Amino acid sequence: MPGPCALVLFGVTGDLSRKKLMPALYDLANRGLLPPGFGLVGFARRDWADEDFAQVVHDSVREHSRTPFREETWAQLMESIRFVQGTFDDDEAFVRLKATLQELDNVQGTGGNHAFYLSVPPRMFNQVIAQLTRVGLTEHSPGRWSRVVIEKPFGRDLTSAQELEKTVSSAFPESSVFRIDHYLGKETVQNLLALRFANQLFEPIWSRTYIDHVQITMAEDIGIGGRAGYYDGIGAARDVIQNHLLQLLALTAMEEPTSFTAENLRIEKQKVLDAVRPPRDFARDTARGQYTGAWAGGVKVRGYLEEDGIPQDSRTETYAAIRVDIDNRRWAGVPFYLRAAKRMPRRVTEIALVLQPAPHLPFTDVAELGANAIVLRIQPDEGVTLRFGAKVPSTQMEIREVSMDFTYGGSFTESSPEAYERLIIDVLLGDPPLFPQRAQVEASWRILDPVLDYWASLPTTPDPYASGTWGPESAAAMMAASGRTWRRP
Ligand SMILES: NC(=O)c1ccc[n+]([C@@H]2O[C@H](COP(=O)([O-])OP(=O)(O)OC[C@H]3O[C@@H](n4cnc5c(N)ncnc54)[C@H](OP(=O)(O)O)[C@@H]3O)[C@@H](O)[C@H]2O)c1
Repeated sequence: MPGPCALVLFGVTGDLSRKKLMPALYDLANRGLLPPGFGLVGFARRDWADEDFAQVVHDSVREHSRTPFREETWAQLMESIRFVQGTFDDDEAFVRLKATLQELDNVQGTGGNHAFYLSVPPRMFNQVIAQLTRVGLTEHSPGRWSRVVIEKPFGRDLTSAQELEKTVSSAFPESSVFRIDHYLGKETVQNLLALRFANQLFEPIWSRTYIDHVQITMAEDIGIGGRAGYYDGIGAARDVIQNHLLQLLALTAMEEPTSFTAENLRIEKQKVLDAVRPPRDFARDTARGQYTGAWAGGVKVRGYLEEDGIPQDSRTETYAAIRVDIDNRRWAGVPFYLRAAKRMPRRVTEIALVLQPAPHLPFTDVAELGANAIVLRIQPDEGVTLRFGAKVPSTQMEIREVSMDFTYGGSFTESSPEAYERLIIDVLLGDPPLFPQRAQVEASWRILDPVLDYWASLPTTPDPYASGTWGPESAAAMMAASGRTWRRP
């Protein structure tokens, strides 16, 4: 359990706060993981009293929390809730924020330790951080801490990411900056480390000697919903590949760290990200697409260009696929294919290590035998699947592909905590292994920027694909160029 502290939430009226952050705080309280000396301060421009904000928290908790609602947990949490009304350019509001934190220190015993969660558009970071600095809330004094939590996107290219980092690092040392990549808070992602490094079974084949290629997929079955303002101009590569998928690649491909401290993980992740080579031939090794209207899952859905708030001539990609290679001894010659897309046939995030074919098959009837694969399912149905060939019963020696499945739900009775529960508690504990560091963010942009520049230079629009299908033909062609195919999870 963390020591005494207060969490200040900027952007409490936003989607992320309502659906994820406030429910996660309640779930932590319900699990007895919030310290007795805890305070929650909401900061927003609405004209609310403490009680109004408490009601907002209450409603979001009732609707979205993972654990059951308990009056005693709620009563305890309610005592710690405060609200500060103001805009980010309102100097007085930040003076009031400071006074509120001092009051919480005195009444709730929050000990002068403060975490500032910026759940607001990144263009506002500058202003908020300047205001916090002006009133002295970013000062570091012995025995007290001040931390900042920021959400993706961490810039839209390397240059803007560096500018953003300059703003953040002007007020907070790197050790006090917590960049959220919520994928890293997921149990299955952490299980990837257990799978690789707690077992003898997998690591010997985890290299170019046996692996043919790796596919990392994040497919969503939904469109952009009401998020046109955020998504258009950003697209699938910036939204997902730059952060989630390259972090998954780093965990899949890195060497064994000497321990799981933040520093040792950072060293290994950084090494592998630095060894990633962006695509050599952009036309051959990348694909981008945009969903069009179609019948998907029994309903007629709109195409991207028909979505509310999307300009008719938008070139934003809703499907992005790239091939990268890793220039090191373990992975030389093993392509890593990353794809992220909306309006796919199903929602799935997985890492699939596809093995080379057996060097010789002493059977004739192997028509239905695909490549062996180790598939780590991040969501949904978190677990691990092994794909291999087995003899079909009562045939002579017909071989067909089968699966061996481990599911979290089937093996453990505990339900997995939400990623945000884990990440918020780590912020309060000051435990950083699950947060990408600045150098990793910059390394990821170095990989992606050349692809984005190439796409921006094309006179053509992204290739169309019908909603509810696995992407444009160009994506299939990208794999076919090396004689491979995309998995259909
Ligand atoms: N939603 C997600 O699932 C998700 C996932 C990953 C990352 N993120 C990131 O998390 C952050 C928040 O996302 P979100 O989806 O919650 O965004 P959102 O729904 O657009 O909410 C943004 C919040 O910022 C506040 N805000 C905006 N401009 C402001 C200003 N000038 N002064 C004061 N407050 C202002 C809004 O307050 P008002 O209500 O008063 O406008 C609102 O509370 C963003 O950085 C986003 O990129 C979100």
